[in-house]
Amino acid sequence: MARPDPKVAQMPKVRYFSGQDLPLEMHKVRIIQKLTLLPIEERLRAIEEAGYNTFLLQNKDVFLDMLTDSGVNAMSDRQQAAMLVADDAYAGSATFTRLHEKLREIFGMEYFLPAHQGRAAEHILAKTYVRPGLTVPMNYHFTTTKAHIVELGGEVLEFIVPEGLSVTAIDPFKGNFDVAALHQLVADRGAGSVAFVRMEAGTNLIGGQPFSLENLRHVRAACLKYGFTLVLDASLLADNLHFIKVREPAAAGMSIREITRAMADACDIVYFSARKLGFGRGGGICVRDEAAYKRMRGLVPMYEGFLTYGGMSVREMEAITVGLEETMDEDMINQGPQFIEHIVSELDGHGVPVVKPAGGLGAHVDAMRFIDHVPQNEYPAAALAGAIYIASGVRGMERGTMSEQRDPDGSEPLAHMELVRLAVPRRVFTLSQVNYAVDRVRWLHANRRLIGGLRWREEPEILRFFYGRLEPLGDWADQLVAKFRADFGDSL
Ligand SMILES: Cc1ncc(COP(=O)(O)O)c(C=O)c1O
Repeated sequence: MARPDPKVAQMPKVRYFSGQDLPLEMHKVRIIQKLTLLPIEERLRAIEEAGYNTFLLQNKDVFLDMLTDSGVNAMSDRQQAAMLVADDAYAGSATFTRLHEKLREIFGMEYFLPAHQGRAAEHILAKTYVRPGLTVPMNYHFTTTKAHIVELGGEVLEFIVPEGLSVTAIDPFKGNFDVAALHQLVADRGAGSVAFVRMEAGTNLIGGQPFSLENLRHVRAACLKYGFTLVLDASLLADNLHFIKVREPAAAGMSIREITRAMADACDIVYFSARKLGFGRGGGICVRDEAAYKRMRGLVPMYEGFLTYGGMSVREMEAITVGLEETMDEDMINQGPQFIEHIVSELDGHGVPVVKPAGGLGAHVDAMRFIDHVPQNEYPAAALAGAIYIASGVRGMERGTMSEQRDPDGSEPLAHMELVRLAVPRRVFTLSQVNYAVDRVRWLHANRRLIGGLRWREEPEILRFFYGRLEPLGDWADQLVAKFRADFGDSL
């Protein structure tokens, strides 16, 4: 490995005459989409209609869509150009070959199984490896990953390091895997109890927190010892790459491409959602070993489409190929984390509780501390997400107890954390828009005692957070609107 060079350990930033350290967009905007900001009374009506579930808001009623980065990142001019030269064919298209070659070049894995998005890749993996009674140890679960594993009778075991579940612990790699727990699992249940081990880059549900290359290599060593297949969920790889580059001294002298390869070299399988990595649609599974590839291959034509498209259009595949190459460019991947760091430090500086250090994906507001008077069984993260929408027209996402599933006996597991995610889709928002969101969250924090809890109006059995509906306990939403009008007059 090249020696760390302190000059490249931090990505270059522009210093302002004012002395401020502000993120600066390293791109220009040439296609725009008009936004509307509804008056607060109409925002209240919209969230009521959506059952206080931000997934059910209509985009026309949203000012800044900070729900997710999935499928909504901005495209580059090169991606758009590549989409015009796509080679349309059911089988054997040159477009697929270009994508396959790019993946082989970046991850160094021979085989690729295309899928229409990340959860489809998870479906294929789970169907191939998971049997009733088997476990899947991982740093932390993601909603769709867990749903597939549990559906097939498997058990998800979360071996995240303790700092990962503390919103206040300042640790550069809160997404690290506790390797000692894996050894203990083998001692308790035997190596035969493990279907595969999963590492999630940029751990989504705990605030977009990364793991270190060093930790991944330790996990790898344990997997080799017991003969476990190590699977990397690379959906949020771009953010994790950035953090390894700027936070892990041993990787400071490595290029993004070298770090990517080092991560892939530690794994047997790399799967991803291209809705997050590289583009806005698609996904797939890269596999090193021919036998593993053949075990999964039959499921692609059955559930996704033929082996040279897997549910993706050729235009999408061309855009992913270019997007993957752009992911190797530090200027392309550092904008999201820098904006998020800006939001987190602005909120934190004004006493708003947020997950620290800033992760990837978005800024994560800690609802448990923000509205500590609302008990967890009244869904504080969902209530805060609703309140943020009312106060600002900004759509965030609940990541707390509402995102959990009930146990088979109907009891409700309380989430480890109650977070509201304000996602920062890559290269979509300007700094002034982000500063507006910060301003309204600060106002809400000053008026936090007005916010109350929620209860279910309609609760679906599976993945309830996607389409369940709730209602406020009491008239706190009306009180919030009245206070807004008193403080802001006729402002939108
Ligand atoms: C870490 C992670 N894995 C898997 C997925 C599922 O991907 P998709 O939404 O493309 O199905 C996501 C999506 O948000 C994710 O963040």
